[in-house]
Formats: sequence, C-alpha cells, structure tokens
Amino acid sequence: MITLDTVGKTFPATRRQAAVTALEDVSLTVERGQVMGVVGPSGSGKSTLARIVNLLERPTTGTVTVDGLDLTALTSARALNDARRGIGMIFQQFNLLDSRTALANVELPLELAGVGRAERRARAGELLERVGLGDKLGSHPSQLSGGQRQRVAIARALAPRPKVLLCDEATSALDPVSTASVLALVRTLTDELDLTTLLITHEMDVVKRVCDHVTLLEHGRVVDSGALGDVVARPESPLATRLLPHPGPPSDDRAVEVVVGGDSPDTVLTDLIRRYDVHVTVLGGAVETLGGQRFGRLQLRVDGAPDEVRGALDHLAAHQRPTTETAA
Ligand SMILES: Nc1ncnc2c1ncn2[C@@H]1O[C@H](COP(=O)(O)OP(=O)(O)OP(=O)(O)O)[C@@H](O)[C@H]1O
Ligand SMILES: [Mg+2]
Repeated sequence: MITLDTVGKTFPATRRQAAVTALEDVSLTVERGQVMGVVGPSGSGKSTLARIVNLLERPTTGTVTVDGLDLTALTSARALNDARRGIGMIFQQFNLLDSRTALANVELPLELAGVGRAERRARAGELLERVGLGDKLGSHPSQLSGGQRQRVAIARALAPRPKVLLCDEATSALDPVSTASVLALVRTLTDELDLTTLLITHEMDVVKRVCDHVTLLEHGRVVDSGALGDVVARPESPLATRLLPHPGPPSDDRAVEVVVGGDSPDTVLTDLIRRYDVHVTVLGGAVETLGGQRFGRLQLRVDGAPDEVRGALDHLAAHQRPTTETAA
C-alpha cells in the first residue's frame, strides 16, 4: 500500500531558473492489488510523483508511506536502499544495459543486493519465463522488440520481489499491440503478486484498460481521484466524460441521462422494464468497459402511464451510480 500525505515538492531556484513547485498538497492512497492510473497534462507533476514514491526525490513537505514504512523518516542511505528494493520501477525508455543479455539485465538488481550467482540465475530465468520471454534469455536488448524490452524491464523490476510497481509512461514508446500486451501483463502481475501499482500515463485508453482507480493531476495538485466506476458517475468530475463520453444534447425534451453499470448496464434496464409498465427508448449514449466492468452513460426516454413513469424514473435514480460505497 502507498500513502502520500499532504506531499509537496518545490525545486529550489537556481541561477538560471526560478523555483518550481511541482507538487502541492497531494494526498493519495493506493491499496494492495490496485492499479492506480495517474493522468494529467505535461508538466503537471506525474513523474515527480512517481519519483517521490521511491524517494528518488525527497518531498519538501508531507510524508510518503509504503507498506507501512514512513520513507520520509528514513535517514540512513542503507535503510533507504533497503526500502527501495521493495519498489520496482519501469520507464518509457526501458533503461536496459545493452552490454548484458536479458538474463543478466534481470540479474543486475540481485547482483547489487549480494544474491549468489546460482540463486539469481534461477530467479531471473523464472521471471523472464513469467513475462513470456523464456526463449530470449541470451538475447541482448538491441535484438529485442520494444514490447520485449519492456517485458525484460518488468522482470528486472520484479527481481527483488517488490510489493510496489511504479510505471512511468511505460507504454508510450510502444505500438498498439505491444502496448496492449504489456498492459495486460502489468494487470496480471498486480493481481497474481498482489502488488500495489501506480501507472503514469497521458492516455485515457490505458486507464480504461488496466486501472481500477484514477487520479488527475493539474499544476501539481490532485483535482480528481477515485474508483473508475465512482468517477464516471460524478457529474462534476472532469474525468467522467473522458472515461465515458457524453451522448450530446438531448434529442427529446423528456430525455433523462443516467450512468449505469458496474455489473452490467443491461441488467438495470431489464430490471426496470420488468418492474414497471413502461416503454424505454435509448436515445443515445456510450457503453465502455472500464477496469473490466461495463458502464453506460445513456440517454433514455421512458413512456407509459404517469405513475409508472414516475416509479421507473425513481428506480433509475436509485440504481444509477454512484452507489453507497462512494461516500469516501
Ligand atoms: N529536477 C528538477 N528541477 C527543477 N524542476 C523540475 C525538476 N523535475 C521536474 N521539474 C519541474 O516540475 C514540473 C513537473 O514535472 P514532471 O516531470 O513531474 O511532469 P510530468 O507530469 O511528468 O510531465 P510529462 O507528461 O511531460 O512527463 C515541471 O514544471 C518540471 O519542469
Ligand atoms: Mg513525466
């Protein structure tokens, strides 16, 4: 679990540049097993946030707690290094050593941690197998595709058995097919190894595909954050319509807009028609799979006897997202 509590980061002024406040008052929690997407415009502080989680950057204010340990309280380089071993990181540019084979790249962090040769070989081999590169142990990065290189980088990040995985634009240099497979791998590994994953991206599509939670940063501040299903249902959420497009202006003066789903949007409508003697017309809308669940933003018209219509509309209002779990 990652907890940032009122984190701020100001880079001091230099002779050439004024001071820059990259993060301000950022509080954020990512639970085990979650993939939290962090989105925001260029310069909004996403990379700084990732670097603060493993204390590559020390926050100016606030605390960073990873798996119960307050990293900001650690003062010795050794304690900090130990803590960092519990946090794996992957980047857009892979950062592999081309002089080394895939196997030797994955072994590197274990070598630095003083793990014996036989043990680190075995572990590296097993990890490369796990990321689907069991037949590429002896290949050098230059002999691998971008997607394969990122898989090696993922295996290397996981070698010290971290509990946290930080991904900074990890698929930005990849083609759509490699992107999809690397994202699927990140999701599977998070689930199987019970990781806490922070995934920085500028693509909303990436969030839709793998994340269960999302945070929007603007000018170093959190302007929106939550579970995807809760975010899409909040009318004032700046992310809602980016996750689930708006159907456009109502084409009928009796149109009502609802956000349904989490289980299946169809269930809500089927249920409605069964309970009330009404006729439902879908005037427009969008249905999206978000974090593995289907959500719909639908524009409906409900026709029938006034009592039935009123009952049906009340039912819809009660069954649309957000559900009771949203309060937080
Ligand atoms: N080492 C540094 N020294 C001074 N300013 C910095 C430093 N690192 C980042 N910044 C500034 O902090 C702000 C946030 O940068 P950051 O790299 O976190 O943005 P980002 O959201 O990752 O952007 P991008 O989408 O372009 O990668 C920017 O204004 C940047 O110029
Ligand atoms: Mg960045």
